Amino acid sequence: MIDLRSDTVTKPTPAMRRAMSEAEVGDDVYGEDPTVNRLQERAAELFDKEAALFVPTGSMGNQIAVKLHTRPGMEVVIEERGHIYNYEMAAMSAVSGTLARPVKSADGSGIMSWDDIKAAVHANDAPYYVAPTGLVALENSHNLAGGTLLTRERTGEICAGAHALGIPVHLDGARIFNAAAALSETVAALAAPCDSVMFCLSKGLGAPVGSMLLGSRAFVEEARAWRKLLGGGMRQVGVIAAAGLVALEESPKLLHADHANARRLAEGVAELPGVEIDPARVVTNIVIFDVAGTRRAADRICARLQHAHGVLASGFGTSIRMVTHYDVSTADIDAAVRALGEVLRGE
Ligand SMILES: Cc1ncc(COP(=O)(O)O)c(C=O)c1O
Repeated sequence: MIDLRSDTVTKPTPAMRRAMSEAEVGDDVYGEDPTVNRLQERAAELFDKEAALFVPTGSMGNQIAVKLHTRPGMEVVIEERGHIYNYEMAAMSAVSGTLARPVKSADGSGIMSWDDIKAAVHANDAPYYVAPTGLVALENSHNLAGGTLLTRERTGEICAGAHALGIPVHLDGARIFNAAAALSETVAALAAPCDSVMFCLSKGLGAPVGSMLLGSRAFVEEARAWRKLLGGGMRQVGVIAAAGLVALEESPKLLHADHANARRLAEGVAELPGVEIDPARVVTNIVIFDVAGTRRAADRICARLQHAHGVLASGFGTSIRMVTHYDVSTADIDAAVRALGEVLRGE
């Protein structure tokens, strides 16, 4: 199987498994798991934020942030394909009582400008008719926009605009290490102007479980209470945090290879009849291409790829998404391109 559905399918490395088996543990609900504490301190140091909290999933980290930054009845301004809005079970409404205010970026790239956001913000302009904006939510890299990037300058510009109106900014940085590698920036620089940031250990970094939520010490203290309320208080979870520590130290330097493989994949599929993609826009590990021109449904193509060739991909409407990660090699990428060619030729 060549599994290109997501970078979440990565399996823990031998070094992670070793660290897991040797991890020192304690009860993390009492704050007594030394490995979790080390992971939180290391993440805070890398991001140059006051504090960090280990959470079971990225969704929980994002939704705790939405909860803490807003009050029920507020709006969250977010790009229309944003994960927090589309793929987190409407938790921003169910958990926080907020309403998404989706924004289309003017150039269709998914990369919002402050002008795009400003047009969607309600800053107490008609307090008895419209809901106030409680939060701006950003995503870097942007998954469903094809792994596109917010530069440090763009993030700074958006945060400056939002903060001038008293609106906080949360960054869904599930794949911020991919963004940092592609932009030759540090994760701290990309997250610096944001009030909170979530990143995932369990995607391209390869840890089996876990994400981190970071912000001020006071924010993280409150987040700890909400994590418990939502059922995310874990006990001897150092066995998992140990893999996260290895992921933080070892995996970021491997991401360039995933990005090169993604570009190679994009260049390969761009040659196939009926496939629409601009390979130059593939800058991280996510490749999304349109197959409307093949007159075949994306999910039918994916089913054939899987059953006839052992290649797994995700079909959405007329698009197919393939994600590279350390468990797929360059040879696998070439095999996947060949397999797609055969499927499209009806072989
Ligand atoms: C951009 C983005 N944010 C958040 C998440 C949520 O992470 P989790 O699956 O750990 O809840 C994902 C997961 O795919 C994601 O792609």
